[in-house]
Amino acid sequence: MKQKILILPGDGIGKEIVAEAVKVINVLKDDFDLDVELTYGDIGGAAYDADGHPYPPTTQKLAKDADAILLGAVGGYQYDDLPRDVRPERGLLGIRADLELFSNLRPAILNKELADASSLKAEVVAGLDIMIVRELTGGIYFGEPRGIRELENGEKQGYNTLVYKESEIERIAHSAFKIAMKRDKRLCSVGKANVLEVMELWHDVVERVGKEYPEVELSHMYVDNAAMQLVKEPKQFDVMVTGNMFGDILSDAAAMLTGSIGMLPSASLDKNGKGMYEPIHGSAPDIAGQNIANPLATIMSVSMMLLYSLNREDMAERIDAAVERVLQQGYRTADIFIEGIEGTKLVGTSEMGDAVVAALLS
Ligand code: IPM
Ligand code: MG
Repeated sequence: MKQKILILPGDGIGKEIVAEAVKVINVLKDDFDLDVELTYGDIGGAAYDADGHPYPPTTQKLAKDADAILLGAVGGYQYDDLPRDVRPERGLLGIRADLELFSNLRPAILNKELADASSLKAEVVAGLDIMIVRELTGGIYFGEPRGIRELENGEKQGYNTLVYKESEIERIAHSAFKIAMKRDKRLCSVGKANVLEVMELWHDVVERVGKEYPEVELSHMYVDNAAMQLVKEPKQFDVMVTGNMFGDILSDAAAMLTGSIGMLPSASLDKNGKGMYEPIHGSAPDIAGQNIANPLATIMSVSMMLLYSLNREDMAERIDAAVERVLQQGYRTADIFIEGIEGTKLVGTSEMGDAVVAALLS
């Protein structure tokens, strides 16, 4: 049976990079035997413009019907002054919560062709391969109560709540341990149990779940130290598991180790493996519409989709090999281009997509 992929380009460079990923999907359909059907919808600012809401009911329905979702990015300067509940970011948080995509996988893999693009020394990052597992539908992003209130003296106070239930910690821990089992069997749980009760519970629940995975070596680290270790000695990590906000921050840091945030895909999965796939970078309104954004993170998000939701590991490998190939051939978008390296050439978004297509077909 045909599997349904919902395409949500979103805002800014989202439209351009998703167009390149769709080229790749179409090649897999036409020239290999991928049996999928694509539908399109709006999310974020684009959806607000069309429907008055960043995650409108039409998109909700499409999302529920799909087997997997490919998302570009959301956000733009023109939406910054909108009320909080209709801002583009709310669309993204809305779809994550609505579909219960609690397990967010953010790999940070350094492609060996790009060791020089990292801001760290090549020997510190060479061979880097970390998987960050971020809890995505709980924690301070969704905790109640939240708001801005006025105190008796007339001063305003902003407040949010960092909460995790045992069941939420358990399911993300299982997700992370399962991934660790398929990798180097080392899991580091990142928290702040020295200060926050909620992270003390997090620590204890992860320990408890760990008893079911005796082969996995479990360690714990406070988030400030984890941030430091990520830039000091990143190769010590195999899989990291953490809460929503810590994961947001650490995954940006980890991304930069690889040279460019334009290289990293992500998967957000529900308990059945249905998933939404997106590059981890944002909508970059400053460079939107100029054909200079890097489409590789989005193309590699298609690879993760094939692996985690569509059960086509063979095709995921094809995409990864094609990406590897174009980097070997020297194609570089501006974010990964370094002046003066022999054999490299600066290309735009669509040329990079075409190069991947050519590599797939060669
Ligand atoms: C991310 C982004 C989002 C987040 C924003 C756009 C809401 O930074 O996916 O990491 O904070 O989760
Ligand atoms: Mg982020």
